[in-house]
Amino acid sequence: MTILIIFGISGNLSQKKVLPALYALYSNNLLPKNFKIIGLSRREITIDQIFANSDVPKHNQSQYDDFKKIFQIQQFDSSDNQAYKNLYQKLQTIINNQSLKLNLLFYLSIPPEIFGTIITKLGSNKLNQFNDSIQTRLLVEKPFGHDLTSAQQLIKLTNQYFVDQQIFRIDHYLAKETVQNILIFRRYNPLFQTAWNNQHIASIEINTLESIDIEGRVDFYEHTGALRDQIQSHLFQLLTVTTMTLPTDLNNNDSIHLARHSLLANIQPMNNQKTLAANTFRAQYEGYKEEVNNLNSTTETFASIQLEIQNSIWKGVPIRLTTGKALNEKKSEIIINFSAVNEQHTNQLTFRLQPNEGIDICLSVKKPGLDQKIQTTTMDFSYKNSFSHHYQPDPYEKVLLDSFRGDNNLFATSNEIIDSWRILQPIIDYWQNHPENLKQYPKGKAKQGILC
Ligand code: BG6
Repeated sequence: MTILIIFGISGNLSQKKVLPALYALYSNNLLPKNFKIIGLSRREITIDQIFANSDVPKHNQSQYDDFKKIFQIQQFDSSDNQAYKNLYQKLQTIINNQSLKLNLLFYLSIPPEIFGTIITKLGSNKLNQFNDSIQTRLLVEKPFGHDLTSAQQLIKLTNQYFVDQQIFRIDHYLAKETVQNILIFRRYNPLFQTAWNNQHIASIEINTLESIDIEGRVDFYEHTGALRDQIQSHLFQLLTVTTMTLPTDLNNNDSIHLARHSLLANIQPMNNQKTLAANTFRAQYEGYKEEVNNLNSTTETFASIQLEIQNSIWKGVPIRLTTGKALNEKKSEIIINFSAVNEQHTNQLTFRLQPNEGIDICLSVKKPGLDQKIQTTTMDFSYKNSFSHHYQPDPYEKVLLDSFRGDNNLFATSNEIIDSWRILQPIIDYWQNHPENLKQYPKGKAKQGILC
């Protein structure tokens, strides 16, 4: 039996991502056998109210009604110790009434500021480990920590109650089909293997650009900003899968975690003001301050930083990570710029994560005709054309299913978290000390290139 306990069942993330993903798994018969969900919400709310506001598709009424039966919703004050004692009793009753092996998953789909409180109360009320025959796991959303010190403290606190194998830190970018494909592409296309280094690659750009604004997530975003919301997690993970040294066995989770961590460990934080000024940029869209009702807000909605990996494979290759909200388009991509021949002709390889998922390669070709003119053209692989009949799961389906199975390959480890904050800490400090550097951009119109 598997019981998923969701803290924050009525929140934005749950309604937009988690519930639709669970529904998709349910519809495809992929949920574990004997599966129950206990949804915890701060306010008193019914399952119908939660579902009415969610993105769960409603076209199959009987399936939709059956799905709702998996849920029990409970009002829960996460700061109240008694609530955890009651939860313990409730679980104990379920456990006593059945003889199956039990998996318990606590999913913190809540603002990161209260992770610590909940983890402590889960642990002090023995919810972290009922007994040896019950497998308990903790699923947490990003960002894990707010800076280097708080991340270290949170890891220490979490490890008092949960060992690393029990902790599943979600980064849904790692679970995107197009991102999982990067390791496969690198391993199984020998054409590129010998060129995957500073001898042949001139620069790398990783972008997650969005046209949406903060969509009402005022408290979360004002506390977080673009650097913490996306660069610390999604963009660093895209960087690691693109540049890490590939382990022999891509299915060996420890080797994958070690490879991702070793890559991050090879990035030196920027250590002087001149480098920080030259290699970091941030901006805020016009109207943001009014939206969050804080006219003094210096939270960035656009962030761009340039890094270098100091190992023999990548030294000298500038890597730019850029993310932003309320831009003129939604686009996530990784661009590999190969070194030019004769300073002129080059190749560019682009992993298109979204939209129009695929890969394209820019080639120099002879333009047809009697004289010798060279032109650039594109070879294009698109999922839409090549796999039009294949089901493309949402990353949250993959994340949830893997956590039910106990497969932690696509989840961030403590070491990766610490190293990502170690790299970002000087930037956080520099930006905090230089609020005057925050630029403004028009909402919904700016192109990435205009900004930096
Ligand atoms: C989330 C961020 O992790 O990723 C959001 O918190 C962002 O701010 C979202 O909008 C983007 O995800 P995707 O899959 O739509 O690119």
